Amino acid sequence: MEQKLSQIQKDYLKKIQSAPNLKVLDEIFLELFGKNGVVNKLSEEFPKVPKEERPKVGPLFNRIKKELEAVIADKRTAIREEGYKKLETEKFVLQPGRLQAKRQGHLHPVTKLEQETIELFKRLGFQQFSAPHIDTDEYNFELLNIPKGHPARDLWDTLYIDYPGYAPGKLLLRTHTSNAQVRSMREFGTPLRMMIIDRCFRYENLDARHEHTLEQFEIVYVDKGVSMANLQYLSEYFLKAVLGKNTKVRMRPKYYPFVEPGAGVDGQCLFCEGKGCKVCGWTGWLELAGAGMIHPQVLKNGGIDPNEYSGIAWGFGPERMAMLKYGIEDIRIFKSGNLKALNKIHERKKPISPAKIAEPEGDVL
Ligand code: PHE
Repeated sequence: MEQKLSQIQKDYLKKIQSAPNLKVLDEIFLELFGKNGVVNKLSEEFPKVPKEERPKVGPLFNRIKKELEAVIADKRTAIREEGYKKLETEKFVLQPGRLQAKRQGHLHPVTKLEQETIELFKRLGFQQFSAPHIDTDEYNFELLNIPKGHPARDLWDTLYIDYPGYAPGKLLLRTHTSNAQVRSMREFGTPLRMMIIDRCFRYENLDARHEHTLEQFEIVYVDKGVSMANLQYLSEYFLKAVLGKNTKVRMRPKYYPFVEPGAGVDGQCLFCEGKGCKVCGWTGWLELAGAGMIHPQVLKNGGIDPNEYSGIAWGFGPERMAMLKYGIEDIRIFKSGNLKALNKIHERKKPISPAKIAEPEGDVL
């Protein structure tokens, strides 16, 4: 029995040490300590051991059993640690996914147009600014010459917010990026060349040309001697760069309470080339931007002396522009999350890269 025990000890120590992984080690453990394992079998043989040998064999048996248990536990730890080390040093080779190989992502068409726009105005020295989506009626209306109860408020279907601490009608979802006008004047003073591109919200009757959540782009340019001529230049510079060199642009008088004079900037309808169609409401022109000379009172509200400085504000809806550029008849596609439709738009026309647009000559503003 003694011999048998030391043979088992020898064999299993060897086996345990050379176990290559946890699975093999577990098998060895079961072989030794399982229900029908070597240890149990041995203890069944105990009654056959001669009486005089028992005091020696018993403790030996226990010692070897404990030793083997401990060696297995140590080996288990060693195998695990080796595995962790390997994980740290091994490089993973990733198999390309099946879909990944076929489909390449792309930017949303409106995002692309916005990036082009930012690039175009950056070249003219405009810096990006941001203003809150949830704002007070002060910045969205009052400081822009649109007091409470003034009929001009009807120009914007507004979503008001009830919130503790604010009187009803005080807090709203901004209806336009013009809420950045007075803010930027107050923050940066003169001279000012700021641009903002962001979301606005309106309580709209949804249809092919109206969304409740819409993008706007707007610039504010304040300096000495700024005039409508700058506005004309900017409108053409921008619309020709985005829609093509042959785009026809016109400016006509339009009322906005915060500009005087105010202008609507129209581009000739690209769908019918000015002949008149469903998209342009049979006029041949599409209104693309609102603009004008900043009203002296608004300059004053921004802390700027209107006797010394003048300014222009100019803004457009990137989604409307993208409709025209990519030939899309329904604005709701853009926020639909409909990948099929968005992919189609992406493939329709290669957007003009700003790099291909002629640099403005000299100091044009
Ligand atoms: N904020 C105006 C609108 O949302 C557009 C505009 C911007 C008009 C700048 C004039 C100057 O309709």
